[in-house]
Amino acid sequence: MPDRYLVVGHPVAHSKSPFIHAAFARQTGQSLSYDRLDLAPDDFESGLADFFALGGAGCNITVPYKERAAGFANRLTERAAFAGAVNTLWLGDEGLVGDNTDGVGLVRDLKRHLALRDRRVLLLGAGGAARGVLAPLLAEQPAQLVIANRSADKAAALAELAAGLGRVESCAYEALDGDFDLVINATSASLAGETLPLPEALFSQGGLAYDMMYGQAPTAFLRQAEQLGAAVRLDGLGMLVEQAAEAFRLWRGVQPDTAPVLLALRDSLG
Ligand SMILES: NC(=O)c1ccc[n+]([C@@H]2O[C@H](COP(=O)([O-])OP(=O)(O)OC[C@H]3O[C@@H](n4cnc5c(N)ncnc54)[C@H](OP(=O)(O)O)[C@@H]3O)[C@@H](O)[C@H]2O)c1
Repeated sequence: MPDRYLVVGHPVAHSKSPFIHAAFARQTGQSLSYDRLDLAPDDFESGLADFFALGGAGCNITVPYKERAAGFANRLTERAAFAGAVNTLWLGDEGLVGDNTDGVGLVRDLKRHLALRDRRVLLLGAGGAARGVLAPLLAEQPAQLVIANRSADKAAALAELAAGLGRVESCAYEALDGDFDLVINATSASLAGETLPLPEALFSQGGLAYDMMYGQAPTAFLRQAEQLGAAVRLDGLGMLVEQAAEAFRLWRGVQPDTAPVLLALRDSLG
């Protein structure tokens, strides 16, 4: 029987992870199955325990369970401990290991378009996604990383958490000043089609706008970024494929080629 993997969330029917991992498995000749599992909030821990007790090899965790999964793992990797959230689990020698591959996924996708070293970076949002990518972004040694959030106190708390990792500061949207080479939207405002209160002169010449959200059409943030003069605009589909590739590498010991899978996934969105 092939090794079994899952993506666990609530809801999870929309997840593209089965498509991505099936493509990785075909490409690398790995024998595995990968399904979706929707667990209601009361069943999350028991459902996961059952899956691993019955021989499951590993799983991805998506909204709204990434923080709860961090509490469920027996051991966290350093990056998962910093993120306070887990999106990848597997059974290791010392029990369940929890990792977070979102940050490395974002950075790998970004680096296809822009070297991050010495750049001025603005991170919008201070929720789980922002926290998950903060350490890998700072590891690239940007000249400056500013976190802006609707609730400015949350941005300040995140900046304080990351203070030892690089040049990081925080502010409210109204206090944004100066221009940035890269602006990353890690808020969920685009989900509701909402734009953010951003100033006119936000992007430097050639500046890149990145929305972690993705879809068939440009997101509200990417449309706003176009009006603000962002030269390059990318959605989070590449991050999704890259975080999956890192999970696949951890599970199977093989690095898949992400480019053809991203193209196929983009096609499948229409
Ligand atoms: N591409 C990928 O692989 C990937 C991976 C992870 C996440 N994501 C995406 O990242 C986004 C954020 O996820 P999350 O888990 O961080 O969510 P979260 O923990 O709920 O945080 C939401 C963030 O969005 C802000 N926000 C929400 N609505 C807003 C609005 N109308 N105006 C301004 N700010 C608003 C919140 O600000 P307050 O603190 O003020 O409430 C908070 O900073 C989602 O769209 C998710 O799909 C993508």
